[in-house]
Amino acid sequence: MTQPALSLDASPDLRSAFAADVRAGLTHTPQKELPSKYLYDEVGSALFEVITVLPEYGVTRAEERLLAMHAADIVAHLPHDVTVAELGSGSGRKTRRILEALCKKRPTSYFPIEISRAALQLCRRELGDIERISIVGYERDYLAGLAEVSKNRSADERLLVLFLGSTIGNFGRLAATRFLRDIRNMLAPGDALLLGTDLIKPTPVLVAAYADSIGVTASFNLNLLARINRELDGDFPLEAFEHVARFNPDARSIEMHLRAKRDITAHVGAAQLTVSLKAGETIWTESSHKYRAEEMPAIADDAGFVCSHQWIEKEWGFAESLLVAK
Ligand code: AVI
Repeated sequence: MTQPALSLDASPDLRSAFAADVRAGLTHTPQKELPSKYLYDEVGSALFEVITVLPEYGVTRAEERLLAMHAADIVAHLPHDVTVAELGSGSGRKTRRILEALCKKRPTSYFPIEISRAALQLCRRELGDIERISIVGYERDYLAGLAEVSKNRSADERLLVLFLGSTIGNFGRLAATRFLRDIRNMLAPGDALLLGTDLIKPTPVLVAAYADSIGVTASFNLNLLARINRELDGDFPLEAFEHVARFNPDARSIEMHLRAKRDITAHVGAAQLTVSLKAGETIWTESSHKYRAEEMPAIADDAGFVCSHQWIEKEWGFAESLLVAK
């Protein structure tokens, strides 16, 4: 992952929160919007896994190359005796490099934090064979899980938090700093955060990464309306929407939208909502902010960290920044 995946089968509370968010987002003016976390149901998460191997989407491969190349050096810059907590473990493929390098030195505890039980199981299966590792999954949202891991460690244990994959890019810029500050508030001085960020690159490359030629990202985006139809008793005509990915130069972000191809009126039963869109009107479903490696020290400082090292992948443009809690 990835992003927080929500399984709504389990809980009526999650379903009513989803309905409330859909209602708030689709009545928002002037721009209708839907929170991007709802892209990741079972179908969306599977489509995202496909996105990570698309030729146009270089993000995941770049980070994998970076971690494969520099894992030993990254580990050499960490405090001794670190316990590892990961926010959104995903398939665990990238994390393997770091964990193997750590476990080579000493037995290591790894706490993946995921809201999806299936993702935690996948991660345990993927990483359980590493020698001298102990894995305990936390089925929580990021901050609640991190608070528990942090509270349960012993006084002499340092924490390394992994937040990989450029998931921070899916937060608005202010929200990203706020989130980093929230993480910092759960850490002790000397604890570390390894943060993956996708870097700004030419617009055509960015747009192609989010509007791939075989339409996987379009399906990933459209699945959000399909999910509303499935889970909230909606009747969005999927064929009347098209996927749009566009670069917003002011925000330095790629925005994903769903654009109505004609005038549409749809209902969402569980949200007691009737929504109308004019032809050409869009629903904004995700932003993916792109960073400059040089701006990370100031962002870190703002959030209560020092950016002590950076590793840059130049072929695609991806940075891993090591932030140490002040
Ligand atoms: C999960 N996240 C970092 C992805 C990104 O690149 O913003 C989500 C994504 N959306 C479309 N393609 C990938």
